[in-house]
Amino acid sequence: MSDEFSIAVFASGNGSNFQALVDAIASGRLTAEIRLLLTDQPHARVVARAHAAQVPVVVAPALPDRDAYADQLIAHCRRQGVQLICLAGFMRILAPRLLQAFPHRIINIHPSLLPQCPGLHAVQQALQAGVAETGCTVHFVDEGVDTGPVIAQRKVPIHPNDTEATLLARIHAAEHHLYPQVVQWFAEGRVAIRDGHVVVGAGS
Ligand code: GRF
Repeated sequence: MSDEFSIAVFASGNGSNFQALVDAIASGRLTAEIRLLLTDQPHARVVARAHAAQVPVVVAPALPDRDAYADQLIAHCRRQGVQLICLAGFMRILAPRLLQAFPHRIINIHPSLLPQCPGLHAVQQALQAGVAETGCTVHFVDEGVDTGPVIAQRKVPIHPNDTEATLLARIHAAEHHLYPQVVQWFAEGRVAIRDGHVVVGAGS
């Protein structure tokens, strides 16, 4: 194994954020190695992306026993020496024992400015709210849905004639910049939690 900062990406769908991480590594913007792509959806597009990028794929369909499922995911990550788990459209809520196995080492990207518009349909919620801007958030994962401490956000304007598709495309473009940047902060040892607050420092 190389001594690069080791990450796992968990994803269930298209995988454009996975791709953004792969591309950031290829361009040198992110100094990390994706040790595994883990999915619960064997036919998701992200699997083809991982094969193309020569990233090892673990297909792990959900099990009825959440703890047994968590143990399986923990074992895969430990075996690969994973230092950070990046959720990127992974459509499952993580069991507490997985969170405890990787304390402050599991992050997620969400298509809104949390705490606004949590959960599913975040883009639709933002359009319906009639607000002038939305964005994306990278946050630590805790036991709630999109409730963990925020690490970084990027704003995206909402245009009067936006549809869900046009707004989503603009948010995705922002996500694809933000996620690799935040993972790079972790690789540089710059992210810490002090007194329950996220601090992005100068690096170790
Ligand atoms: C992203 O919009 C992310 O914010 C959300 O799920 C979506 C995944 O998109 N959690 P993709 O599969 O990375 O294209």
